[in-house]
Order: sequence, then structure tokens, then C-alpha cells
Amino acid sequence: MSTKIIWITGGSSGIGFATAKYFLNHNWIVIISSSNNDKLKKAKEILINENKSKNLYTLKCDITDKNEVKKTILFIENEVGQIDIALLNAAAYSPNKNQEFDIENYELLIDVNLKGTLYCIDALKDVMKNRENTIAIVSSPIGYRGWPTAGAYGMTKAAQLNLSESLFFDFKKIGISIKVINPGFIDTEATRLNSFKMPFLKSAEFAAEKIYKGLVFKSRFEIYFPFTIVFIVKILRILPYSIYFFLWKKLGKF
Ligand SMILES: NC(=O)c1ccc[n+]([C@@H]2O[C@H](COP(=O)([O-])OP(=O)(O)OC[C@H]3O[C@@H](n4cnc5c(N)ncnc54)[C@H](OP(=O)(O)O)[C@@H]3O)[C@@H](O)[C@H]2O)c1
Repeated sequence: MSTKIIWITGGSSGIGFATAKYFLNHNWIVIISSSNNDKLKKAKEILINENKSKNLYTLKCDITDKNEVKKTILFIENEVGQIDIALLNAAAYSPNKNQEFDIENYELLIDVNLKGTLYCIDALKDVMKNRENTIAIVSSPIGYRGWPTAGAYGMTKAAQLNLSESLFFDFKKIGISIKVINPGFIDTEATRLNSFKMPFLKSAEFAAEKIYKGLVFKSRFEIYFPFTIVFIVKILRILPYSIYFFLWKKLGKF
């Protein structure tokens, strides 16, 4: 039986929860954390009922709290074992339906998605050094380019993407592997807030399988899925501004 250990931030729902289940089913020791104790308890009940697994730990950890992040990582390392994979998946999301520049929303998303991710990386780098383990950051293809109405969320995802690329080089030198995960539209609590029809929408279970296979069996830096939608966004990414803006104009977005 494998004794490998994965820590999943934001494991109480959506992609993180489904991925926790997938890793448990494959005999990994799984630690899920999130900021809301009630959500975590519910997630634990479901996972224990379905898996009857003794390999599950749930720890409350709000990633915006630097000290709580440090304590959580030290607890896992000392009481459970060395983290093989840290899946930095936790994020806040709020669609900007009114197309307003809402500074509080920007601040919230920067705190959770950006600073929270940085706090995790900062604490992980000290314990993971020279172990050739993996930190995987869940970003989004929305970070490839600026999209209408997606300024706050898109900006944090673009920053995560840029950060992952940078750290890929820098952390190689200290023996830590960096990966980035870019899912297309996945049906979760977060995307259920969207008011538009999401093309190529997939389930969280679909995402979990792709993440597991990408992290465990492949050495590629970027894990992305489903192929078609992310590939289309990758094409948009390389278009010159004139064509990119023209396309959005044609779609009536400004
Ligand atoms: N769904 C998609 O289509 C899609 C597409 C591209 C990328 N992504 C990315 O995939 C990841 C997961 O998203 P999802 O769709 O599964 O969303 P979700 O269901 O809303 O899950 C988000 C998770 O993050 C946790 N979280 C939020 N704030 C936190 C905090 N301050 N500290 C710790 N945990 C916190 C939430 O739990 P608590 O509320 O209990 O804290 C929850 O477990 C995110 O990084 C998202 O940007 C999603």
C-alpha cells in the first residue's frame, strides 16, 4: 500500500474535494484543509462514509492566516508524515456580473488567491527543500489573458500562472518541483454562480482524474483539461491585441 501524502488546500468542496476522494481511492494519505470548519466536517463525513478510509485527515486552515498555514504544514510534517504533493487549490471566486470595479472584491481575491498561495509556498519551501516533492498550483486558463468582467479573479490567476513559471526555474535549484493546473469550466459551487452557459463544462470528478494522472504519472509542468476549451484559450493567448479586442467586440462585449 502506498504511503504517499498529499495536502489539498480548499479540499472541502469542488475540485479539491473530488481530488481528495480520487487520491484516497488510490491509497494515498490525504489531508484536506479549508477555512470553514462546518464544510470540512461535512466533507469528512462523506469521504469516510464512501471510502471507509483511515487515510484521511481534515485540518482547518485559512490560507490568509500566515501563522495557521505554518502550523498546519508543521503539524502534517511532524504528525502525519512528509508531504509528497501540496495541491494549492483553495481560492475565492465572485463573478463580476455588474461589470463594476469593486475594490473590496479585488482585495478579497488578492488575499485568498494570491497572498494565501504565497503563504503556503513560503512555509512549504522550508520543509520540502531537496526532497524532489511537488507543489502544484491550481490556476486557470482565464489567467492567460484579460477577459471582460474578469479583472479581479483573472488577475489573481494570471499572477499564479506567472509565479508558477518563475518558481519552476528557481525551485528546481532547491529540489522542489513546481506544476501548474489549468482547468476549463468545471461544475462546482464556484462556477454555479456564473450566469452564462459554460462551454465544455465538466464534472469535478473529471477534473480529479486528470489532476491525479497529471501529478502522479506525468512530468509535464502544466496539467490542463478539457483539451478543446483550454486549447482554444491558448490560441487566444497568442493573438495580437488588435485581433483579440476585435473578437470581443464582435461578441458584443464592449
Ligand atoms: N471550477 C472551475 O471551473 C475552475 C476553473 C479553473 C480554475 N479553477 C480553480 O480551481 C480551484 C478550486 O475551485 P472550485 O471550482 O473547486 O471552487 P470551490 O468549490 O468554491 O472550492 C474552493 C475551495 O477553497 C476553499 N477556500 C476558500 N477560501 C479559503 C481560505 N481563505 N482558506 C482556505 N480555503 C479556502 C473553500 O473552502 P472554505 O469555504 O471552507 O474555506 C473550498 O474548499 C480554484 O483555485 C479555482 O480558481 C476552477
